[in-house]
Amino acid sequence: MNNNEQAAWPAIAQQKHIAWWQGDNELLHADKESIAGILAEIGKPVCVVLKEGQLYFTNSGNLSFDLNTRPVKSLPLLAMLPPCPLDQLGDHSFCRDHALRFPYIGGSMAHGISSPEIAIALGQHGMLGFIGAAGDSPEKVEKAILRMKSLPEPVPFGFNLIHSPNESGLEDIIVDLYLKHEVRLVEASAFLAMSLPLVRYRVTGIHQDASGRIVAPNHVIAKVSRVEVASKFFAPPPEKMLQQLVAAGVITEQQAQLAARIPVAQDITSEADSGGHTDNRPAVSLHPTMVALKNRMQQEHNYDMPLRVGFGGGIGTPASAAACFAMGAAYIVVGSVHQACNESGTSDAARLMLAGAGQADIAMAPAGDMFEMGVTVQVLKRGTMFAMRAQKLYEMYRKYDSIAAIPAADRQTLEKTVFQDSLANIWAMTADFFRQRDPSQLEKAEKDPHHQMALVFRWYLGKSPRWAVAGEEARKVDFQIWCGAAMGAFNEWAKGSHFEDQKNRKVVDVAMNLLHGAALELRLSQLRSQGVTLSPELNRVAPRTLDQIERLAHAC
Ligand SMILES: Cc1cc2nc3c(=O)[nH]c(=O)nc-3n(C[C@H](O)[C@H](O)[C@H](O)COP(=O)(O)O)c2cc1C
Repeated sequence: MNNNEQAAWPAIAQQKHIAWWQGDNELLHADKESIAGILAEIGKPVCVVLKEGQLYFTNSGNLSFDLNTRPVKSLPLLAMLPPCPLDQLGDHSFCRDHALRFPYIGGSMAHGISSPEIAIALGQHGMLGFIGAAGDSPEKVEKAILRMKSLPEPVPFGFNLIHSPNESGLEDIIVDLYLKHEVRLVEASAFLAMSLPLVRYRVTGIHQDASGRIVAPNHVIAKVSRVEVASKFFAPPPEKMLQQLVAAGVITEQQAQLAARIPVAQDITSEADSGGHTDNRPAVSLHPTMVALKNRMQQEHNYDMPLRVGFGGGIGTPASAAACFAMGAAYIVVGSVHQACNESGTSDAARLMLAGAGQADIAMAPAGDMFEMGVTVQVLKRGTMFAMRAQKLYEMYRKYDSIAAIPAADRQTLEKTVFQDSLANIWAMTADFFRQRDPSQLEKAEKDPHHQMALVFRWYLGKSPRWAVAGEEARKVDFQIWCGAAMGAFNEWAKGSHFEDQKNRKVVDVAMNLLHGAALELRLSQLRSQGVTLSPELNRVAPRTLDQIERLAHAC
């Protein structure tokens, strides 16, 4: 070590040792490269010993904790790290129950952006991917299910079950598909309360095994941002709904009694500020509240199975993943960063735009599905005018009560820039769409011109994510790309590495970097808490290739 590096160390000589270390002095290392290598082998313990006034690192040797008796040829041990294998970062039972190696989930992304390819890649590597079903037709969803079900080597996977209050019947159709094809795991999202289709999915097939244990074949991982919603998922299904299902002949009275003893969801993802729909909650305040709720409800209901909380929203670097595990995440959920990976179901054009984003290059914009209610989604701002144009549409919707009331000049601008067609033509296309999909919307629009205006404006909000997914060059400035701050954080972390080039972003490489990097960040934090502060260079967890990570994992 040179003097500059030494200056980065604390006054360790005064620090009390915690044990005596004995071993081969040849295996003690003080140079940066060796220290980095020792720390990165996360499956092995690390000892930090003092020799001739300098710190040395090793992952070998023996320890004696009797401080009063110094063994021969021993050295004072100032700090130590236990092994930190990746499969033990979160809740071990989560991995066991879902047949995973690592506590890592690729979250659902609408329009198949979280594609079967993402789920397959993650699944083959012992992680879990949810396939995005929102915004897709039941036919497309069924095709994706059949694809996953026909893999020669089955992998763990799940599908999104999104609450769709605006499309009556859709949730039931999707649940029918999941039950028909035995999709055993869903990510339930956008729920504010339990719905009958969701409960039907959860309790269908519930029974007791030979030992009397309750077995529910279908599992729900619920994604929520509010404690009051989480408490509904951690509770058993509402009695009224169970009785409705008994009356409909879906389950028996005896099954209803079993269902009343299990939570709707054993696992809840606490979702902080994320891409897409988000309450923009700060992770550091949201997550501990969810963990406290879990502990309270586990005590209250005394379930046979442990309740668990995973964290999502804002995870784009090893440090953010480490923070989640340090706060008690059973698992982590990643979305935005996966969208920029090669396997995502979006276009190359959108992926490139994402790879160029900084943390501030995002904005909240009106959401297509809940436009009239003023609900917003988090989107990419850089390189697209979608957020600005959608906001303009919302302002007009608030200001005028019909398309006819829009001043001629404003209308012309809208037709020329946003819609690139006359509003009359847009209405004709919109009416055609709803004639097939939901004719009640047309009846409502006939009576209420303000509703007609909303449907026309929603045409733009509904088309813009499809233009992004299809990479429609002529509509590039209108791409609606859901994205959170995690994307910019990842890009900043990845600068100068192989990940800087978007083409090198493969979902498993990214995931393994986040997990391995998180383990390393946790080690650095543990060293700091023992008074060992490393030089900035050693404190930086840099991106690695998958080969390097695999080698480090094998070395353990
Ligand atoms: C492009 C995109 C589309 C998304 N679509 C959905 C969706 O259809 N259903 C859902 O439950 N979550 C959706 N999400 C949320 C993700 O599943 C995940 O929870 C979230 O992205 C995690 O936060 P992050 O974006 O900060 O990583 C979407 C996120 C993105 C970025």
